[in-house]
Amino acid sequence: MIDERRLGPVVGLGTWNTFGADAGNAREVVGAALDAGIRVFDSSPMYRGAERSLGGALMAHREDAIVATKIWSQSVEEGREQYARQVEWFGRVEIEQIHNLVAWRDQLVWLERERDQGRIEKLGVTHYSAGAFGDLATALRTRRFDVVQLPYNPHEREVEDELLPLAAELGMAVIVMRPFGEGDLLRRPPSAADLAPLRAFGVETWAQALLKWVLSDERVDVAIPATSRAERTAENARAGEPPWFGPDERALVAELA
Ligand SMILES: NC(=O)c1ccc[n+]([C@@H]2O[C@H](COP(=O)([O-])OP(=O)(O)OC[C@H]3O[C@@H](n4cnc5c(N)ncnc54)[C@H](OP(=O)(O)O)[C@@H]3O)[C@@H](O)[C@H]2O)c1
Repeated sequence: MIDERRLGPVVGLGTWNTFGADAGNAREVVGAALDAGIRVFDSSPMYRGAERSLGGALMAHREDAIVATKIWSQSVEEGREQYARQVEWFGRVEIEQIHNLVAWRDQLVWLERERDQGRIEKLGVTHYSAGAFGDLATALRTRRFDVVQLPYNPHEREVEDELLPLAAELGMAVIVMRPFGEGDLLRRPPSAADLAPLRAFGVETWAQALLKWVLSDERVDVAIPATSRAERTAENARAGEPPWFGPDERALVAELA
């Protein structure tokens, strides 16, 4: 069961473009993530075999995990088939999200029934593109969702205008995709000297600085960086521990990014 008070602030694990259909790598990465205390695992039928790999990797540890996956189809029939396969792979889905707002009004009807009958704990909705944030806000205002997933990092701050304040007002949980801008923000890391003021906050690497920047926004619950490398899960997970940045440290990270 998900803690009713708050999901986070914590670091989770994304699964897009990292282990895909490579079940062996998924086992390694997910095993290391669980050892590092990571609990929230995000996936989607869009991620080319990632759901099946994640399901296999979680099998023996299912009680320790919160699975946040998605329905991604224009048709209700196919959406229901996606859900049936997820139940096979995961046993149950804690957070079911409607991917990229696809047919969200149609999919929501049957998903609400699943939630009301206790088979799904929370319903969410996602979009990756600022061009769709107006529609995402419209969906949130229906108050039919418990969770929203959106992109947020020092180079993508559009969600600060409307979506983060709205999610806070509605008491919704916020999951942050793309905390590293799909890896772009990590290509030219600042020097150790630049990061020195952040050491007192437990930050040793640039990846940790970016994750702590996201999680230090009080409206955010979970950041879900993806990695194909087992050893990076512990590094990332450590950024989900206090102390949190204040405005000065957040400003420094934004400047360095
Ligand atoms: N991108 C989207 O539009 C989108 C949309 C919907 C949902 N999501 C969800 O959000 C998740 C995260 O977004 P994302 O995967 O697009 O991008 P991201 O998490 O911002 O960046 C992932 C990249 O960061 C690298 N990385 C991870 N930890 C690192 C570390 N400690 N040091 C150096 N490099 C590190 C990974 O490379 P290595 O594999 O080499 O570690 C990977 O290439 C997705 O996996 C998915 O679950 C994304």
